[in-house]
Amino acid sequence: MEFPSKRMRRLRRTPVFRAMVRETALAPDDFILPLFVRPGEGVKRAVTSMPGVCQMSVDTLVEECRLAVNDGIPAVLLFGIPAFKDALGSSAWDENGIVPQAIRALKSELPGLAVITDVCMCEYTDHGHCGAIKEGEVDNDATLELLARESLAHARAGADIIAPSDMMDFRVGYIRRALDGAGFTQVPILSYAAKFASGFYGPFRDAAESPPKFGDRRSYQMDPANRREAMTEIALDIEEGADMVMVKPALPYLDIISEARRRFDVPLAAYQVSGEYAMIQAAARNGRLDLETVMMESLISIKRAGADMIITYFARSAARIRK
Ligand code: PBG
Repeated sequence: MEFPSKRMRRLRRTPVFRAMVRETALAPDDFILPLFVRPGEGVKRAVTSMPGVCQMSVDTLVEECRLAVNDGIPAVLLFGIPAFKDALGSSAWDENGIVPQAIRALKSELPGLAVITDVCMCEYTDHGHCGAIKEGEVDNDATLELLARESLAHARAGADIIAPSDMMDFRVGYIRRALDGAGFTQVPILSYAAKFASGFYGPFRDAAESPPKFGDRRSYQMDPANRREAMTEIALDIEEGADMVMVKPALPYLDIISEARRRFDVPLAAYQVSGEYAMIQAAARNGRLDLETVMMESLISIKRAGADMIITYFARSAARIRK
């Protein structure tokens, strides 16, 4: 074997060299911060499994968002924990429901912050499934109208972007029509297009108080084994009018992000979900991993795989590091 003339270490020698040849960079405006809002005043209720994450009332939420804006975060993703739940999830389309209240407060206090709302029934139904139940199953077509009502309630309150996350068939097309019909032709849809039935949502279901009371979500969310099916899901959502699409979770699904980036020319988001966050936090707390290093490494991987936007509970901490 001849002594090599190509030496890869030459360009790794100094911090300046490394910065010059770095292929991927993170910036605060890559991040979207997910937040949980609940009724009350002055509420800041810690989510045990997710250190640093709290359920907040509208007033506390506005203060948190002010800090996020200072950190350079361009957008938040809102989840609501309603005052009451019923079989259909009717508080989801209450014009004075918790999410519309939060949207109005945020748009008046922080007009420059983009407010994205998660549109799904699971936080609002007493059975915890993402739609109406008929004969023990989640009824796809009956759920579409409920999602449309929820989307309209959010849009009327001033939501900047609607993000349907339930994985019903044709919900993007149905919501697009409903928005257009009510004059919201300018409100974009960010579709949770390839959302897998993942164990990594565990801590979120505590945070959003939304675990299903029977069964699981495998009849509507995707099988973790399927990549081709994910591409079909994304293609269908784009056809139905999605302006942006999302892959979720992120780190265990980097191949899906990467292939989606190659195949589709729409903005691509990836959701680093609650379990990914909780896992890193727990290992760091045990002294097994360095929090900051692993947080930034996980985020750069997601960006490198092809995501344009990363929804992450680390948004504020990561943004502060890059500032
Ligand atoms: C459904 C929804 C879920 C998440 C976002 N939207 C939970 C689920 O599908 O069970 C998970 C997010 C996370 O784990 O951080 N409304």
